[in-house]
Amino acid sequence: MNVDFKERDFTALKADALVLVLTKEDVAAGSKVKKPGRLVAAFRGDESQLLAALSGSNFSGDKGEQVAVYGLGKYKVVFLVGAGDESELTGERLRRAASAGVRAAQSGRFESVVMATLDSLLEKMSHYEVVHSLLEGGILGAYKFDKYFTLNGKNHKLRSITIAFSRVDASIGRKAARDAQLVCEAVYLTRDLCNAPANEVYPEVLAEVATKMARKYHVRARILDERQIRKLRMGGLLAVNSGSARPPRFITLEYKGNPRSRDWYVIVGKGITFDSGGISLKPAAGMGEMKMDMSGAAAVIGTIQALASLKIPVNVAGLAPSTENLPGGKAYKPGDVVKTMSGITIEVDNTDAEGRIILSDALHYAKRYNPKAIIDMATLTGACVVALGHHATGMLGTGDEVMSLLKEAGEKTFERVWQLPVYEEYEKQIKSDIADVKNVGGRWAGTITAALFLKKFVGDYPWVHLDIAGTAMLEEQGEYSARGGSGVGVRLLTQFFKQIASQR
Ligand code: BES
Ligand code: ZN
Ligand code: ZN
Repeated sequence: MNVDFKERDFTALKADALVLVLTKEDVAAGSKVKKPGRLVAAFRGDESQLLAALSGSNFSGDKGEQVAVYGLGKYKVVFLVGAGDESELTGERLRRAASAGVRAAQSGRFESVVMATLDSLLEKMSHYEVVHSLLEGGILGAYKFDKYFTLNGKNHKLRSITIAFSRVDASIGRKAARDAQLVCEAVYLTRDLCNAPANEVYPEVLAEVATKMARKYHVRARILDERQIRKLRMGGLLAVNSGSARPPRFITLEYKGNPRSRDWYVIVGKGITFDSGGISLKPAAGMGEMKMDMSGAAAVIGTIQALASLKIPVNVAGLAPSTENLPGGKAYKPGDVVKTMSGITIEVDNTDAEGRIILSDALHYAKRYNPKAIIDMATLTGACVVALGHHATGMLGTGDEVMSLLKEAGEKTFERVWQLPVYEEYEKQIKSDIADVKNVGGRWAGTITAALFLKKFVGDYPWVHLDIAGTAMLEEQGEYSARGGSGVGVRLLTQFFKQIASQR
């Protein structure tokens, strides 16, 4: 998609559709009183059409409202979209409004969109944030995974979004637009990887995508193949892989955005390209969704791309252990004992709790960076979906400072996180009679016992675990994400690392 900022008034531009994001205050005087309000004043010459359209609708500029007006200015259609009270404006309000407008344009099969607000809105927020939020909402809202539709008509795509503000300094506007586009491209990559079926994205492919991304953005990629994984004695990854006909991969990416610093952060993502449950087979209904069990790995690849393309001055290593979890003849079985790279032994009680097993090796591997902090992302437990549904990521860990920064980043990006405890009292649930730890902790507090399992492999490093089981795969379309892969984690961690970079 073409994305552009123009230091022009929207009335001076031409496109198929105009998406005009308005506050209640923008609309008030124009519709209620007949004297020109801000909105009406913006369409000098077309006042009568606008007033007629407004009087025939109940559009008040409130959030969630929208109305189409035809024949204004040089646009085929103008979508007026409400953002609510001026005093309650946030980036999220703008993202949602922009998404609604762009989606309306897209379903109307229009190809080019100009997006704008009235100047009054620019007094309420930083210009950078206005442009960034509008574009983010617009681009993310336009996302479609339609590459498998071959019959006509199903894959109409928007071609361009132009943001127009004559009152925004061109260098700020262009920078905000570029930044938004880059982070959205990374989210698109993550969504595409998640939505792709498991017959197309398996460990070797995931590794190839990571390698290609790395080449394009000058990131160092090293992919460990089965032989190297064996040499490192990653017994967890190998055990889960044993039922699959496809070889595992261990993806490592190193983005060195701050060469003068020796500080490293490590992000780790669960890369199960299909989770059948293994010998502890999952029920058939809904099993196809488990093609998205590599959402953590996809978010790692997307985050590294975002950081590298935005040139954020931090050093971040991305790790993603990847395999299928299938019940083959050589598959690992309940009752097996597995020795991990760390030396810690795991009693396998349920082969469907495979994510924590492959992560055990990755978290241990992470220590070689002597990192400031380790953050892992994983679609780890159904229990997290039960607890938090689809609107908050579960956050657990030992890195209190990192967690408070992540909380802040979550509010800002609206990829919100909610903390659960890792009290040691839960630990006895994962005690094993015959090994160092057992891979399941019984019926209660499944998200917490999973995190306590991971904790055994991170040593004393500040560590945060993000359980994205509910937020990475959506059953219904969101405000600016389609049904399916949401790309969660990319915007959250990009914002987090921007904060880290600005702290120094
Ligand atoms: N990938 C699943 C977790 C999951 C479930 C993600 C639903 C998204 C939606 C994970 O590997 C798994 O199967 N976990 C088990 C653990 C249990 C056996 C202790 C679960 O949550 O049921
Ligand atoms: Zn599983
Ligand atoms: Zn899984």
